[in-house]
Amino acid sequence: MAKARVAVLISGRGSNMAALVYAAKHPGCPFEIVLVAANDPEAPGLQFAQAEGIPTFALDHKGMKRAEFDALIDAQVRKAGTDYIALAGYMRLLSPEFVGKWEGRMLNIHPSLLPKYKGLHTHERAIAAGDTVAGCSVHVVTAELDDGPVLGQTEVAILPGDTPATLADRTLIAEHQLYSRELADYVTRESNPDWLLANIREIALALPETAEKPSHGSPGFFVEGGKFFAYFSHNHHQNGITGLLVKTSGVEEQAMLIDSDPALYYRPAYLGPSGWIGISLDQRPVDWAHVGEWLAKSWRMSAPKRLTKLLDVIDQI
Ligand code: GRF
Repeated sequence: MAKARVAVLISGRGSNMAALVYAAKHPGCPFEIVLVAANDPEAPGLQFAQAEGIPTFALDHKGMKRAEFDALIDAQVRKAGTDYIALAGYMRLLSPEFVGKWEGRMLNIHPSLLPKYKGLHTHERAIAAGDTVAGCSVHVVTAELDDGPVLGQTEVAILPGDTPATLADRTLIAEHQLYSRELADYVTRESNPDWLLANIREIALALPETAEKPSHGSPGFFVEGGKFFAYFSHNHHQNGITGLLVKTSGVEEQAMLIDSDPALYYRPAYLGPSGWIGISLDQRPVDWAHVGEWLAKSWRMSAPKRLTKLLDVIDQI
């Protein structure tokens, strides 16, 4: 599989960026670093990146509007064919426009056990609070500072006599290991059947009165007291496909769908003759909104009138 292309944004030393660069040298690493960009042309990390033959881009943000500056960074990042952005000591708040464009595709490393100690001076605050453990977190970047979903953390013991500097030194060692591991997991999660199933499960079980039970070896989702409306299928009978099986209105709709997008839709074994459709989850990125629409549609075809009545009324208005 092609490696995920990662751009790293830095403001200074860049030791986390360096850790990502070295991790990416391992032949089995699922990502490569395609650009290192800085908002300070003097950032020492830039020299390291250049020495390692990684393209760099640096621009002083001073005097520029936040959104204007971010648009220039965005243009460079896109020119490099970036799939994901890793913030590594990037000390500049990002505009909502930039965060929106990279939603779900941008990670950050933060030197605390989030949600504790967002922002600056994390080690000082942990010591002052009398904590016995500090640590670091890798999280998805959202509009709120240091607030997105946490992907992973490493705890670091606070030793008697620790100063913010000694604690920061030890935490940095943990950061360097955590970041590359979490980034690797994140860029490969869509190829991980457990992750795909967890997402399907979350959407399916959010529909009214639904439950899960295995059926012929596949996780199945049904309306309580009623019928199955979805199955998660992973390499079923060695077909090599990870997919979601849902109901259509019948074999005609099924044929039309396969005709319209043969890479996305397929006719599943066994359930195919009854008009079920397979939706491939091997596509990148998975269109989760589309998956959600199909689950809701299939649920509606399987749920008792008592549950769908209101939806039928809304449709007629
Ligand atoms: C790290 O402690 C990181 O967690 C924080 O900023 C620091 C950057 O250090 N966001 P470096 O530039 O990666 O060496």
